[in-house]
Amino acid sequence: MNAGIIGVGHYAPEKVLTNKDLEKMVDTSDEWIRTRTGIEERRIASDDMDTSDMAYEAAVSALEDADMTADDIDMILVATVTPDKPFPSVATMLQERLGARKVAAMDLSAACAGFMYGVITAKQYIETDAYKNVLVVGVEKLSKITDWEDRNTCVLFGDGAGAAVIGPVSEDKGILSFELGADGSGGPHLYQDDTIFMNGREVFKFAVRQMPESSVNVVKKIGLSEQDVDYLIPHQANIRIMEAARQRLGIPEEKMATSVKRYGNTSSASIPIALSEDVKAGKIKDNDLVVLVGFGGGLTWGAVALRWGK
Ligand code: UT7
Repeated sequence: MNAGIIGVGHYAPEKVLTNKDLEKMVDTSDEWIRTRTGIEERRIASDDMDTSDMAYEAAVSALEDADMTADDIDMILVATVTPDKPFPSVATMLQERLGARKVAAMDLSAACAGFMYGVITAKQYIETDAYKNVLVVGVEKLSKITDWEDRNTCVLFGDGAGAAVIGPVSEDKGILSFELGADGSGGPHLYQDDTIFMNGREVFKFAVRQMPESSVNVVKKIGLSEQDVDYLIPHQANIRIMEAARQRLGIPEEKMATSVKRYGNTSSASIPIALSEDVKAGKIKDNDLVVLVGFGGGLTWGAVALRWGK
């Protein structure tokens, strides 16, 4: 039995913060942000919308897409570095809010690679027959840990949530291979004290090496080659980093998700938001070979190669 993605959903807060808006807040320019990152605007959650509220909206949408109710869920995993509170977890808040059964629920901390860690964790429970359907959410309210006076970071991030229901699919479909990794020696390059600190250049160097490498590795693991990839969903951090992965795979521009333009970097939410949007836009079709790949603070990384469909 294989585990696959059987429903997707996402939620983005209404408030749009444009590059022009940021020009009034810090010494930056629309031109600098666009050319260095590819970001044009991002969403910012209101004060009364916390991380669990966004997780709930995305989860409801993913359950609907999977044609399921909360009763069908056997485990809840939430990838986030911006929980409402250190504890209880967002996952337990979500369980209560959804009216799910008293199933296992936990948060998972792997920064921007969190959704990849969540999906691959879910896969283990499903393929060992321990659980049938696992709800995996990537959600961040990064605006609450952003230093709005630091132009090195505040122009990059945004808020949002994406969710996927992972469940059993037929033998030739679903997650066919994965790679996960971490390198704690890179921890000082990207962390939170009160607000986010980032050594952009170091993270950039790591990411342009890791994302292409992991993308190729998961494809090679199933005995296929770069040319077989139909669609690439890289972590939406910076278009230049994403381009490095796309060019390494040698796939055309229209075969890569680029929601970074409209949402900025939403950390663990970026991959499931992009996935949900592009599935709903018809860009991903039955039988497509899709690569999801992420990297983040830790440093951490993760990738999967999956055959779309049930
Ligand atoms: O999810 C994982 C999270 N992190 C990432 O993915 C980030 C990875 N890194 C990056 O995306 C890039 O390194 C950045 C977008 C953060 C920066 O781009 P860069 O091409 O690496 O620029 P840089 O760090 O070399 O900085 C160039 C200049 C600097 O000025 P000086 O020192 O050369 O005079 C910065 O102070 O740009 C300056 N700068 C800005 N200027 C205008 C930095 N931020 C801004 C800004 N507006 N917002």
